[in-house]
Amino acid sequence: MGKSGKKPRESHRQGRGRRASHFGDEDGDDLPSSAYDAPPCQNEDSSDDNDDTSEATLEDEPERDAEAGEQDQWQGSMPSKFHLYQLSVQSPKGDISYLQKFFLMYVGGRVPLHLQEDFCGTALLSTEWIRTDARRTAIGLDLDLESLEWCLENNLSKIGADGYSRMLLFHGNVLQPKEARFVKQKFSDLVHSLDVNNDNGSGSNSCEQTGLADSKYLANSTMSEAAFPGRDIICAFNYSCCCLHNRKHLVLYFRHVCSALSKRGGIFVMDAYGGTSSERKLRLQRKFPSFTYFWEQDEFDIISRQTRISLHFQAGKKQMLRHAFTYHWRLWSIPEIKDCLEEAGFKSVHVWIREMPNTQSSGNAKEYNANRDVKYEELQRFNQGDAWNAYVIGVANI
Ligand SMILES: C[S@@+](CC[C@H](N)C(=O)[O-])C[C@H]1O[C@@H](n2cnc3c(N)ncnc32)[C@H](O)[C@@H]1O
Repeated sequence: MGKSGKKPRESHRQGRGRRASHFGDEDGDDLPSSAYDAPPCQNEDSSDDNDDTSEATLEDEPERDAEAGEQDQWQGSMPSKFHLYQLSVQSPKGDISYLQKFFLMYVGGRVPLHLQEDFCGTALLSTEWIRTDARRTAIGLDLDLESLEWCLENNLSKIGADGYSRMLLFHGNVLQPKEARFVKQKFSDLVHSLDVNNDNGSGSNSCEQTGLADSKYLANSTMSEAAFPGRDIICAFNYSCCCLHNRKHLVLYFRHVCSALSKRGGIFVMDAYGGTSSERKLRLQRKFPSFTYFWEQDEFDIISRQTRISLHFQAGKKQMLRHAFTYHWRLWSIPEIKDCLEEAGFKSVHVWIREMPNTQSSGNAKEYNANRDVKYEELQRFNQGDAWNAYVIGVANI
């Protein structure tokens, strides 16, 4: 999701129950990230004004059976798939603005400083979190070492040495977070510490230390060995909880989250998407000045509620990176998520939802441009439609 630059519309759909909570104009223009609702190009450093992708579609591209063939085409000209992903999918300013508002609304009483980004990928959100306030810290956790290392070299490196002292990345499974290993940047020894002084809560996960952990200690440590402040906010964005396929795992994950949140109160925020368009084959595309982003959805299995999502990128007329990212997802319903959060110990659960543009409204339904006037609202009821996007917020320890 990206920037709207426009004022929110008062009412965007009839026949739905809705409550008063509604972000007003003062909330700014940024919407959060979503692979489903890609933001318009913001900072893409492209000189390609001719948009020579305009005729390109996924179908036009001949199938290639070997990834190697594709790789050849990228050499020397194409940015990394992570860079393309960040440009097309992520909007960290919007994410942060919503996270802060949710925190102030459901916890309040202090400014949230400690973020944990689960399923963080390249941890762009964490990087932006620490970049925009020197008091903040961030922890990122992901199974994919390549994306974590890419973050260190391409995102965190832009912040300077101070960044390395306030953001730590861990390689591991969210289902076994304590075993996740600290990821040390290859090119420097800049990691000194995570400031553990800011959580004054009485909870067991609060770090009582007053000093800073030292880099040698962190270098080989697991998450359980490193001492952290209780987190104010933990998030799992871009539908990452769909990577967990069974209920036991979802509840286990939520329990880990609950216990890592500050004993002074904290929130967990995840996103979900749905609608009739999410349960069938679907292809969406969005053009950026120098490349086109494709979201491709396989058939939806109603027994397992699973599907496969592939993200592709195309630059120029011929350069195509197919299956840059592939996810096998279970689409959790909102009541399932709510039940699991409550079972895991969250005190209250809130749902903020936004209708998405109808995927069949345009002629060939290929070009997908979200209506950025439509903001998220906290709702108790929402009638099924073609496409929606939601934030589910679990509030803990208050
Ligand atoms: C859809 S991507 C989301 C990346 C990022 N959060 C974002 O907002 O764009 C899902 C990420 O979850 C990671 N992942 C999947 N299963 C995981 C698990 N069990 N534990 C930790 N990370 C996992 C993948 O490696 C991938 O980076």
